[in-house]
Amino acid sequence: MMLPGGAMLILLPMLCLLWGASWAATLGGLGDTILGPKEFRDVANFSTFLLDQSSGMLYLGAKDAILAVDTNKPNQPPQMIVWDVPVDRRKSCVAKGKTEADCNNYIRLLEFLGDGRIYACGTYAFDPQCAFLERSSFTLEKSEDGGVKMETGKGKCPFEPSQHYTAVMAGGTLYTAATSNFLGTLFDISRATGPEQERIRTERSINWLSDPEFVSSAFIEQSADSNPTGDDDKIYFFFTEVAKEYDLYTKVKVPRVARVCKSDVGGMKTLQRRWTTFLKAELVCEDKPSGQRYNILTDVFTTQHIPGDPSSTHFYGLFTSQWQREEVSAVCVFSLSDISKVMDGPFKELKKTCENWINPEPVPTPRPGQCLNSALKAEGFESSLKLPDKVLTFVRDHPLMENSVTAAPLLVRKGITYTKLAVTQTGTEERPRGAVLHLGTDRGELHRVAVVGQNATLLQEIPLFSSQEPVNNILLHQGRALVGSPLSLARIQAEGCALYPSCEVCARARGLGCVWTTEGACRPTTEEPGPGDMIDDALRKCDIQEGK
Ligand SMILES: *[C@@H]1O[C@H](CO)[C@@H](O)[C@H](O)[C@H]1NC(C)=O
Ligand SMILES: *[C@@H]1O[C@H](CO)[C@@H](O)[C@H](O)[C@H]1NC(C)=O
Repeated sequence: MMLPGGAMLILLPMLCLLWGASWAATLGGLGDTILGPKEFRDVANFSTFLLDQSSGMLYLGAKDAILAVDTNKPNQPPQMIVWDVPVDRRKSCVAKGKTEADCNNYIRLLEFLGDGRIYACGTYAFDPQCAFLERSSFTLEKSEDGGVKMETGKGKCPFEPSQHYTAVMAGGTLYTAATSNFLGTLFDISRATGPEQERIRTERSINWLSDPEFVSSAFIEQSADSNPTGDDDKIYFFFTEVAKEYDLYTKVKVPRVARVCKSDVGGMKTLQRRWTTFLKAELVCEDKPSGQRYNILTDVFTTQHIPGDPSSTHFYGLFTSQWQREEVSAVCVFSLSDISKVMDGPFKELKKTCENWINPEPVPTPRPGQCLNSALKAEGFESSLKLPDKVLTFVRDHPLMENSVTAAPLLVRKGITYTKLAVTQTGTEERPRGAVLHLGTDRGELHRVAVVGQNATLLQEIPLFSSQEPVNNILLHQGRALVGSPLSLARIQAEGCALYPSCEVCARARGLGCVWTTEGACRPTTEEPGPGDMIDDALRKCDIQEGK
């Protein structure tokens, strides 16, 4: 259902930002905290978040610097490491036609290595470099000559500070979707670390990737005990690209999901050092009654309703539209099982000739693009190197699936550009009660929306940062949201009925199991609302309480 316009979009009493003498500003009475340029000593251009779940330490990648904030003690000054570019390298970058500002080291990648170190990669004046951060001492590893020990960041980190890019760690190995040249004309999804011969990537064909803007990635692991078929683990990439399957005058953009399998090491002759499992499908976020499609994907949040159970995985996608003049944002949810069904379905024929129009090319066995499992291994395909040539040429020529993964928007908002989203499930595993969407805007606000069944209800719009600061990160941790912009970081409460400060807001959260008490507080309840429109009912009770 679409969020009905105007009526729902009531601006709630905004929480005040108290920029006082204390170095951290406080939001409301919930122990919320905002750190800004003063606290960050004018380090700016934050783009990367990495959270250590156990210690609550948050690492931030910025321009020429890496910072660490203890989210349990946000009032402690952040730790900082400067990692900048020597003058001669900056000069040669400018000489190649890049701006002074862009010829710095924008830290775009921070990932745990599993040995007490963090892998950090930066644009390094259009010559991406990676370094190793020792967590215990919070220092970068040095080389023999006393400088920062570096290795090339090509294919791991973009060249440009603001280029779209995504990376994910899977079993200690880094998988990335990035541009891989100085001009920004080559795009690869690759296994970027690990043994040299296993560093494979996408084929450089417009059928595989066509001017993509990478958005997000997710590693979906199958635990051994819930995997009777011995299926390989999978990595999903989300992006928007220029459609090649429609022959139109305008460049039509399409949102996509692509999948690769973790143990893929490429083919022997065909697809040597290339993915043999790269399959992609179109994501369709469409409001059927109006025919409105939201075709540009801007963010994806991955959740598992049952933690550790891959089949419960859902991807919440944030979309906008290529065709609408005014700003618009939509949220659609796709289940992993729907994606799997499409990936197991027919392949799209991209080279339409008279011959294969009538008789589509037969699909060889083993099924092209399929992940290895116990059955295939028993048949002698223990590695992708053993796959027959005709399977590999088929997958090379048919990376796109015929069917799309479709969903109707949960939420559509006009006049607002959402930049990031995160989702908390409410209720228990056995009795899920809905979800809360935490949506960041391009103007420094955080919006909360309750989703119960197909109904979305706006709860709150909270201004966090100045209107020039787009929200570019949202992380959920221990009931809190860590929200970032290029200049600031907020730590705010994100769970529980106590978040909703008035009878009206609490009423809109009725479907999440919240109820306004006679003591004047919003509290959880296990009592089921009566039949009919529960929000209207709850709102009516507010009016009675206020004597209206
Ligand atoms: C870096 O931050 C400065 C100051 O906010 C801004 O003007 C500039 O556009 C930013 N650059 C990038 C690449 O984000
Ligand atoms: C959704 O909203 C409609 C109308 O407001 C209401 O009748 C229906 O019960 C709601 N459904 C859920 C699951 O909340």
